[in-house]
Amino acid sequence: MAGNGVFAEIYDGEVEVYKYYADGHWHKSSSAKSVSIINPTTRKTQFKVQACTQEEVNKVMEAAKVAQKAWARTPLWKRAELLHKAAAILKEHKAPIAECLVKEIAKPAKDAVTEVVRSGDLVSYTAEEGVRILGEGKLLVSDSFPGNERSKYCLSSKIPLGVVLAIPPFNYPVNLAVSKIAPALIAGNALVLKPPTQGAVAALHMIHCFHLAGFPKGLINCVTGKGSEIGDFLTMHPGVNCISFTGGDTGIAISKKAGMIPLQMELGGKDACIVLEDADLDLVAANIVKGGFSYSGQRCTAVKVVLIMDSVADEVVEKVKSKMGKLTVGPPEDDCDITPVVTESSANFIEGLVMDAKEKGATFCQEYRREGNLIWPLLLDHVRPDMRIAWEEPFGPVLPIIRIQSVEEGIHHCNASNFGLQGCVFTRDINKAIMISDAMETGTVQINSAPARGPDHFPFQGLKDSGIGSQGITNSINMMVKVKSTVINLPAPSYTMG
Ligand code: G3H
Repeated sequence: MAGNGVFAEIYDGEVEVYKYYADGHWHKSSSAKSVSIINPTTRKTQFKVQACTQEEVNKVMEAAKVAQKAWARTPLWKRAELLHKAAAILKEHKAPIAECLVKEIAKPAKDAVTEVVRSGDLVSYTAEEGVRILGEGKLLVSDSFPGNERSKYCLSSKIPLGVVLAIPPFNYPVNLAVSKIAPALIAGNALVLKPPTQGAVAALHMIHCFHLAGFPKGLINCVTGKGSEIGDFLTMHPGVNCISFTGGDTGIAISKKAGMIPLQMELGGKDACIVLEDADLDLVAANIVKGGFSYSGQRCTAVKVVLIMDSVADEVVEKVKSKMGKLTVGPPEDDCDITPVVTESSANFIEGLVMDAKEKGATFCQEYRREGNLIWPLLLDHVRPDMRIAWEEPFGPVLPIIRIQSVEEGIHHCNASNFGLQGCVFTRDINKAIMISDAMETGTVQINSAPARGPDHFPFQGLKDSGIGSQGITNSINMMVKVKSTVINLPAPSYTMG
């Protein structure tokens, strides 16, 4: 897989390190150092990427700035055409990119292919949406504001911000990268991508698809390296005009250090699933298992706490346990449902939450089992608010159930969290569902389904520590532009006609 076929030029076979992408070319870093990517399944080094230097970042920023000026003048339809081309190339090469996802982040094989295809679709949709919404401006006349004559005409349109820095997370290194790249490009911005270490090679392959599509040199760049060397340097770089970040609480630190630039941040969640007595309990069980355990719970939109009315809890727990018994556990290559979590430290963190719950008396619905980074799916019943897992995000296949006596108790727990990404409510009473949705302090509430970001054109946003701004294709395009006004001042009244 390493650098085969059209991807040969992205790989330095001599030292077995992937190159970084800048100014339209693939480069080796002058540091002569690399960063290892550990396969979560084998726990051995799978790939290596360049450890870029601050000087290389400076060069990338300069090139991006120059390229952006020309790109902003490139007709919108031409920008869209190139994006459509990149989307097609991406989909054409779904197999090798998916293979990287399997090796780097242990994404189950089928889900890995889905991620790449979804990404291609996202890029195409963004091209179309951009043509529609950026092709429109606004005309205002002055006499609608008190004291004014009809002597001024204001034309407002949307212009790019400049250079967008995109920092996606390990769990969707391709999809959450293109969800930043495509809106940035269609809006006329240049792009610097800093991929996560786990997922960097999939991201480099994806960037190569944009390269093959023929975007201008310097417009798209991808730098890899150690956060300690280039992390803050990138996010605080004066050449950056916008940051779009998805990840953990590093985002809070970035938001404090970044300058006076627009930020788009998605920083995780403790997505609650509130289950009422009148819910369809089979639907509930299916969604708890899908929502809690797909990609081993490593999704910011995973169900992370079930708040269930006590009277139906036993029945739901039985149904969930039976469905969990059917989940396959093992390597991503075998397309197992539960695969190793991304790093050993993640597995240790999850284990810490489980042990805390054990000490404090949670009921284990299955035996706790771990081999390396692989953790078997675990349902913890009778979790209480004094347990860490009631509040913290495991980002793993471990799901707490809190039994509640009233809906208000469920809403209270949901709202007491620092997070506010998504939540869901299960009931057959649509009026109640809407009232609960209104009361839940989360960016989205799903009625009768598990939380999810997609379809990718839906608005996606978190409240409180879950983020800044709103994503989804349309909102991301609008976030990556600013409004420019041109005011036409007509001559004084003595010149008026008629
Ligand atoms: O991990 C965060 C992602 O935004 C979740 O996306 O709902 O499509 O899995 P997803």
